[in-house]
Amino acid sequence: MADDLTGGYQYPFPMPDEDDVAMSDGAVHGRPPGVPSSYEAGRSIRWTPDSIAEVHALSRLGRYQIRGFTTDNTRFPTFDDLTFVPASLTRLPLEGYRENCDTRTVLGGGRPDLVSAPLELGIPIYIASMSFGALSASAKAALGYGASKVGSLTCTGEGGMLEDEREASNKLVYQMTPSRYMLDLEHLRQADGIEIVVGQGAKPGTGGLLLGMKVSERVAGMRSLPLGVDQRSTVRHPDFLGADDLQVKIEELREATDYKVPIFVKMGATRPRFDVAIAAKAGADVIVVDGAEGGTGASPELLINHTGIPTITAIKAAREALEDCGMADEVSLVAAGGIRSGVDAAKCLALGADCVMIGTAALVALGCNSPRYLDDYEALGTAPGQCHHCHTGRCPVGITTQDPELETRMHVAAGAERVARYLTAMTMEITLLAKACGKSSVHNLEMEDLRALSLEASAFTGVKLAGIDRPFGW
Ligand SMILES: Cc1cc2nc3c(=O)[nH]c(=O)nc-3n(C[C@H](O)[C@H](O)[C@H](O)COP(=O)(O)O)c2cc1C
Ligand code: SF4
Repeated sequence: MADDLTGGYQYPFPMPDEDDVAMSDGAVHGRPPGVPSSYEAGRSIRWTPDSIAEVHALSRLGRYQIRGFTTDNTRFPTFDDLTFVPASLTRLPLEGYRENCDTRTVLGGGRPDLVSAPLELGIPIYIASMSFGALSASAKAALGYGASKVGSLTCTGEGGMLEDEREASNKLVYQMTPSRYMLDLEHLRQADGIEIVVGQGAKPGTGGLLLGMKVSERVAGMRSLPLGVDQRSTVRHPDFLGADDLQVKIEELREATDYKVPIFVKMGATRPRFDVAIAAKAGADVIVVDGAEGGTGASPELLINHTGIPTITAIKAAREALEDCGMADEVSLVAAGGIRSGVDAAKCLALGADCVMIGTAALVALGCNSPRYLDDYEALGTAPGQCHHCHTGRCPVGITTQDPELETRMHVAAGAERVARYLTAMTMEITLLAKACGKSSVHNLEMEDLRALSLEASAFTGVKLAGIDRPFGW
């Protein structure tokens, strides 16, 4: 519920009808289906039909809008602003159908004295931390089975370790949130990695958000919350306020897990050059940088669209931070946020990531936005291909819901198979590009394999401009 800013103030006149207050049926969640025709001719780049509708919606609601999915800020550069320049004469390509390209990926393998069981993955992609609560138990299980089939891993996200997910996942990273939901020593010991989350790309600087519609009995039980009440998690970890305390926390977690599993630190991309250096110096084995395009189950829309820096701008800064600290060989770098395909993933690897993590794309592979149950999309005021209503708990395809009837639409076995095939296809896309660039391992992709198609993308990433062969401004 929104904070009450009125201090109980009463108007000196009777309240008008709700319809008069609302002015139009401006959308409560997301954009209205159409805007009044008088605005159609509006050509202002500032007062667009969308920005007018937004003011109407806010003046009706008296609070900011909340929604799920990901940013629709069209000013963010995308992976499409970069292109690959495969080998020709200056470099030799590998035979795409005959020669091998290694995809094995190790996370947390740089400190054998501190991590005796690093995470060895068959592919350079894994499934992001998405909580049980945001996702249904069936979706969590399907992601776990799908990832396991291709030698990858998945993460619990906020809200504790679900038995269904532990059973489904050969490798499971356990997320430690500031609010310590369901923090359980037994679960820490059952995990194959521990992730300390200090922020998310979709909403850096704020904590998790789960609306009451999704706080079912099972979710409430796991998070020690009252049934059906909105849950807004804290963002600051009570155990550490700075780098020194983070180091102590990491050390504690190592002791609790017998110096076995890698410790991840996940952050939203804001100042990666400094934040990554601090996390590395504090002892993180794996650092996850989640760009502003990162998906979410629910967040204030203004944070989704207007906070953080885009993924392609964050990776190089993060890689340079590790190099500057002399820790590039010790710490693994994972990139996330807006990755849709193997092509996007390959670009992340070329920019300096060791591995990528996908959230939204994995949900789409599970069936998010698929053209079934059309009436239910319509009831939400949306349609397949445009749905961003994960926050409502009424997911038409059973992925982001706790409604038992909707959840039956998420078939675990079929969903797992789609996720496994999608991860396989993504990996094939990466190896195809890597071989064309002459690489026998996906981890040999480098900035020189890329060219920028816009001045901004070149300036943001340091990638050479196409045809000019030097970065913009250098
Ligand atoms: C439905 C959903 C739930 C999420 N839940 C969590 C969470 O519990 N903890 C967390 O750190 N991040 C959470 N995230 C963010 C993801 O871990 C990841 O950072 C993000 O999805 C990556 O961007 P992408 O969706 O573009 O791949 C969630 C994302 C989605 C889509
Ligand atoms: S289909 Fe479900 S998971 Fe996909 S955006 Fe809509 S509510 Fe979210």
